[in-house]
Amino acid sequence: MLEIKNLKVKVKNNDIIKGIDIFLKKGEIHVIMGPNGSGKSTLSNVITGKNGYEIEGSISYKNEDLLKKSIDERAVLGIYQAFQYPIEIPGVNSLNFIKQSLNAIRKRKNQKPLDSIEFKNLIKEKQLELGIDDSFLKRDINVGFSGGEKKKFDILHMSILNPELIILDEIDSGLDIDALKSVAEGINKIKNGKTILIITHYQRLLNYIKPDIVHIMKDGKIVLTGGREIVNILEKEGYKSFEKTTL
Ligand SMILES: Nc1ncnc2c1ncn2[C@@H]1O[C@H](COP(=O)(O)OP(=O)(O)OP(=O)(O)O)[C@@H](O)[C@H]1O
Ligand SMILES: [Mg+2]
Repeated sequence: MLEIKNLKVKVKNNDIIKGIDIFLKKGEIHVIMGPNGSGKSTLSNVITGKNGYEIEGSISYKNEDLLKKSIDERAVLGIYQAFQYPIEIPGVNSLNFIKQSLNAIRKRKNQKPLDSIEFKNLIKEKQLELGIDDSFLKRDINVGFSGGEKKKFDILHMSILNPELIILDEIDSGLDIDALKSVAEGINKIKNGKTILIITHYQRLLNYIKPDIVHIMKDGKIVLTGGREIVNILEKEGYKSFEKTTL
């Protein structure tokens, strides 16, 4: 599904990612954990196509060279990123944004755009399924949203776009215990065979979402790859003990 090979990323001549390999098979859930500044968000931005990076190595997605695709081509290919710091967009209504982004993708796939009634029905169905009430959705994107509302907006957007590869950059940060549970349940409902890359600092999200593979990233490198047991080691010993090894 996604093959990252010897990826090196520089920003303004600083080495941020220093040669990493990650292979995600269809339907797998991978987790990346690692200290602040180790390059996790940079990696997710490079996969989804944000500009401003000097990139070496390769990323292939469904056997296509992803690095040759623009950011919107990657969205059409079914890649979705939930950002660590969602941006506020004053003047753009939240639901309208979800509708426009869905219809833009449908148009690129030669599918008929949803009209207002079809969209309203779809959003109601998803809201009901995910247990998201719509008080904040009437407002502009993320403007004045609480941390939890921003993440719920992401979950709803994602469920409507129905991507195949989902990258969640710290979707659990700033959430209270109930919101964490509800966001995690939302992800589990959306999952349905999708491939997911989760970036997190906290083991508690993984009480709800069970990863297949866990990677530890440190200073721009993957220093350990293994199963869920890594998370327990990490909880006990912190990042200091990790050297470049593979379980
Ligand atoms: N546009 C940029 N300009 C300069 N430095 C950058 C830029 N983007 C990233 N960096 C640097 O790259 C390093 C990795 O940043 P990144 O955001 O990928 O880390 P992270 O692993 O996501 O950290 P955190 O856990 O704190 O979110 C940091 O030292 C950061 O300052
Ligand atoms: Mg980050």
